[in-house]
Formats: sequence, C-alpha cells, structure tokens
Amino acid sequence: MSTQPLKDLSTLVSLAKRRGFVFQSSEIYGGLNSCWDYGPLGAQFKLNVKLAWWKAMTRRPDVVGLDAAILMHPMVWKASGHVDGFSDPLVDCKTCKNRFREDHAVKKDGKTQCPRCGSTDTTEARAFNLMFKTHMGPVEDEGNVVYLRPETAQGIFVNFDNVANSMRKKIPFGIAQIGKSFRNEITPGNFTFRTREFEQMEMQYFVKPGTDEGWFETWKQTRWDFYRTLGVTESKLRFHEHKGSELAHYAKAAFDVEYEFPFGWSELEGIHNRSDFDLSQHQKFSGKKLEYFDEATKEKYLPYVIETAVGCDRLALALLCDAYREEESEGDKRVVLGLKPALAPVKAAFLPLSKKQDLQDLALKLFEDFSSSKEVDYDESGSIGKRYRRQDEIGTPLCVTVDFDSLQDQKVTVRHRDLMTQDRVSIDQLKNYVNQKLGEF
Ligand code: GAP
Repeated sequence: MSTQPLKDLSTLVSLAKRRGFVFQSSEIYGGLNSCWDYGPLGAQFKLNVKLAWWKAMTRRPDVVGLDAAILMHPMVWKASGHVDGFSDPLVDCKTCKNRFREDHAVKKDGKTQCPRCGSTDTTEARAFNLMFKTHMGPVEDEGNVVYLRPETAQGIFVNFDNVANSMRKKIPFGIAQIGKSFRNEITPGNFTFRTREFEQMEMQYFVKPGTDEGWFETWKQTRWDFYRTLGVTESKLRFHEHKGSELAHYAKAAFDVEYEFPFGWSELEGIHNRSDFDLSQHQKFSGKKLEYFDEATKEKYLPYVIETAVGCDRLALALLCDAYREEESEGDKRVVLGLKPALAPVKAAFLPLSKKQDLQDLALKLFEDFSSSKEVDYDESGSIGKRYRRQDEIGTPLCVTVDFDSLQDQKVTVRHRDLMTQDRVSIDQLKNYVNQKLGEF
C-alpha cells in the first residue's frame, strides 16, 4: 500500500468545504476576504481542539480559567503598548499603487522594491496600527473609541489581582483563557492560518522574578509534550528562537513552536518571557498596586510572566494538515484523516447495510444509545463502500455496520479506520468494545 501526505493546501481547503469543516464567510455574497465559517464538523472539531487545550491547562492545581470581555477600557491598550506600537510598516508603490509591508519586501540598490511590479519608486514607510477600532454607544467621536482586542492576554493581566484573591492562588500560578482576537492584518492568507478574526488559547503563568528562566524552560517542554499527545508528527515540529529585533516589545525571551505546513515552516505557538512588563504598565496606568505579597517570605514583588499563546484556528489547521493522508492499494484509493479520537468530530458511525426498515431501526437505536455519551453519526445513503470512504475522510475512527445477520445473532461489524480490519461484536458488548478501541488509537 502506498501512502501520501498532504501536498498542497488547496486539497485540504476543498475537503474542508466538501465535508462541512470550513466554508468561506458570506460566500453567497462573493465571500469576505480572510474570514471563514466553521461548518457542522468543523465546529465540533474546533471545540474538541479547545477542550484538549483547556483540559491540559486547567486540570492541574496551579492553573485556573478565565473568560474576559473582548471590549476593554481603552487605557488597557495604551498601557500594553498596542496603541503606540502594534503596527506594521506600510509602503505605497507610486507606479502600480500597490500597498505592501516594508518588512516583507526585498531591497534593490538600497531601496524598497514593490513585490507586484518590481518598481523601486515607493513612498516612505508609515506605521499602520493593526487594531480594529469602533465606538462605544451611539456617538462616534474620539472620546468613546474602543478596540476589538488584538490578544486575549490583557484580559488576564488586568484580572491578575481578582483571580489571585478570589481563588486564593499562591505564586507560581497561571490563568488560562480561550477567546476571539482581532487584527487588521495586512497580509492575511493561507486559509485559516492568518485571518483578521481568530481565536486564541493563551495562558499567563505568574512567577517570582529570578525563577522565570527555569519556568520558561518547563513551559517549553510542557507545550512540546502537548503537541505530541495530540498526535502531531514530531519531525514536523521545531522551536524557533526570537533574537534581536524579532523580539516583541514586551518580551525578554521568546520561542515559537513551528509546524511544517504545506506552505513551509510557520509559527504555531509563541512562548514568551514577558517579564513584569505588563503588570508594571497596568500598575502605572491604572494607579492600582498589582504587587504580590509572599506570605512565606514577607516579600512584595511584581511577578514575572511566562506566556504560552496559540491560535486555535491555526492549531486546527495544523492538525488537519498533519492528519491528512491518501492511500492506494491495488488501484483502490482513499483519503483518511488520521485524527486522534479525542479530536475527531465523529467517534463512531452507525450504518445499516441496506435500506431495509429493520436494519435502519436497529442502527438508529444503537446511534441513540451512543449519542448521549459521544458524537456519533448515522448514515444510510449510498453503498457501504462509499459510506466507509466518507467516514474515513472526516476521520471517524470506527464504523458500526448493521447487516441482515445482526437481526438474528444480535452482532454488528465494527470497522477500524486505520487498519480497515473488521470485528464481529455482540451488541451487548458494543459499548465496552468501542470505548476500548477508541482508547487504543
Ligand atoms: N499574547 C501574545 C500573542 O498574542 P502572538 O504571537 O502575536 O502572541 C499568538 O499570537 C498566537 O496567536 C500565534 O502563535 C498564532 O497561533 C495566533 N495568531 C496570531 N495572529 C493570528 C492571525 N492573524 N490569524 C490566526 N492566528 C493568529
């Protein structure tokens, strides 16, 4: 049997649309650039990705969750540096009127060259702020400007004291959050990789200054292990260290976890040592003391922060790219999404072999028995071979087929997605069997 991984993103984009994972936003109006809607399977899959992250982060004694508002006091973004510093340098080409990022363009004879027409007759770079601006209330003036948050992290920093006090948390401890962020990106693209509206999964871990470098290493390892647990191919993961001008304005040290997408190695997650930058800025701008009092040592200090930040949409894309494979055996082809069962949008599909009412009734009854504890599917349309292929393509680990013998012997056939082996299983043993098999993937 020959196996091929995903070669180009367009193959995945078309599977995602065909099978109800991801659709272009507002498609009937011609679509809205770089905005995507998750279809029925995509919504479930993304929820599974978020749950995997949420469980990994919050099912430990030292990390708690938070769900902060998207709209925040405008001073937050002054303090964080986003109003003054969160911008891309933009250049206009005087020849073809193209507008592009100076830092993504090549230089010719010391001048910035337009990537579209090659002209070097370009304007000076101007800073373009990436935050989306809107107004609070009915009057649109400068006094009521608010921003759609460009990162979830600030909701955590401004709640540091609330969480520490209400949860009686002692340092070191972390706050985890999943939520939407918005950036008016100049060059969105590569499907859901870089979009203007996206979801982030961020965790800020508050530590005593001096212990930050050790915690930074610990979190790097923890995050690497997380991707291994999700089944990501390890040879397609690597760390990339930020040096010099690559470092964000708040970062003392930063590593990206990169994944080898079909379009090349690109950032999946950022792990940053943000020092006490954010807490000290919020302390200064709000006038509220954010120091932590260590009861044991009677010391007062502003904690340092180790941050892990991954885009949920970006991770979902990496997982789909990684799981995709095409198999061919004796002229028979199939596409498989080899997702771990915890991530698969459907865990098991119930398939009556024919449209005979008795078979459909039994398959539906089994579907109903399982649906209270798992995401399951029921499918009666098309040949059984086509139905297996459809389930393979959406990553369903197990297919349960009800055939004519099932009515007599009270047994069903369970087919394994990866091995394509089939077992005959007694209906009264089916729950145990399915749970055990899902655990073995
Ligand atoms: N709080 C730190 C922070 O936001 P970041 O490196 O700018 O750091 C963290 O973003 C992660 O969010 C990235 O590694 C990426 O996975 C995701 N992300 C950032 N911008 C994105 C965009 N325009 N579209 C999709 N995901 C994005």
